Amino acid sequence: MTKYLLLAASLFTLNACTTATAYNPLDDYRQLNPATNLPTPTAMSNGNFTAEQVARGQYMVGLLGCGSCHTNGALIGTPDLQQLLAGSDTGIAWSNPLLEPNPGIVYPANLTPDIETGIGSWRSQDIVRMLQTGVSKHKEQSLTVMPWPSYQKLHIEDVTAIAAYLMSLPPVKHQVPTNLKRGQKATAPFIHFGVYQSKQ
Ligand code: HEC
Repeated sequence: MTKYLLLAASLFTLNACTTATAYNPLDDYRQLNPATNLPTPTAMSNGNFTAEQVARGQYMVGLLGCGSCHTNGALIGTPDLQQLLAGSDTGIAWSNPLLEPNPGIVYPANLTPDIETGIGSWRSQDIVRMLQTGVSKHKEQSLTVMPWPSYQKLHIEDVTAIAAYLMSLPPVKHQVPTNLKRGQKATAPFIHFGVYQSKQ
């Protein structure tokens, strides 16, 4: 299994050099630089929404950085620009991989309207509810790894515009790996957002 660990550079204060026995995660994990400021793909016309709504949604999705999780490779620094917003084969661990060998992992979903692998069967209300409450179309409560609590206070016009934009994207067929519960062994790479502090 390939393991990746994303270290929040400014917050990572683990000082492994002070004692001979201190554990240095960099012995086991590679440090990576995440990509930022990804372009947003251009949407097609969609009869259900105005061009202004779609354009507003494109602006919001770029502003809120949805693509930095939901684009293959973006989490490990090499985004696939042909698959913008079409989901990530790199997962995000939600329990600490430094404490348990097989943490739980979620994979950012394909947000393009492909029926089989994306959100092609979602209505705009389903997308709005997901962003405001974290409850997916399948009635599952999403972990806050998908940062829906940050989106709760967006104006309904903005959330609807995000839905309009996503539903107007060209569909991309790309199946992301299945989420893993704690204890299940990952076969696809994952990162972990960690904030660590030295005990010394
Ligand atoms: C920090 C990473 C991250 C960011 C940023 C992020 N997401 Fe997510 N998102 C996820 C993960 C991980 C999942 C899968 C959650 C799960 O399966 O429980 C997800 C799931 C979703 C889903 C559900 C799709 C499905 O098929 O179940 C939607 C819709 C969604 N995100 C939209 C967005 C939008 C729109 C934005 C920007 C406004 C965004 N996300 C930003 C990580 C992220």
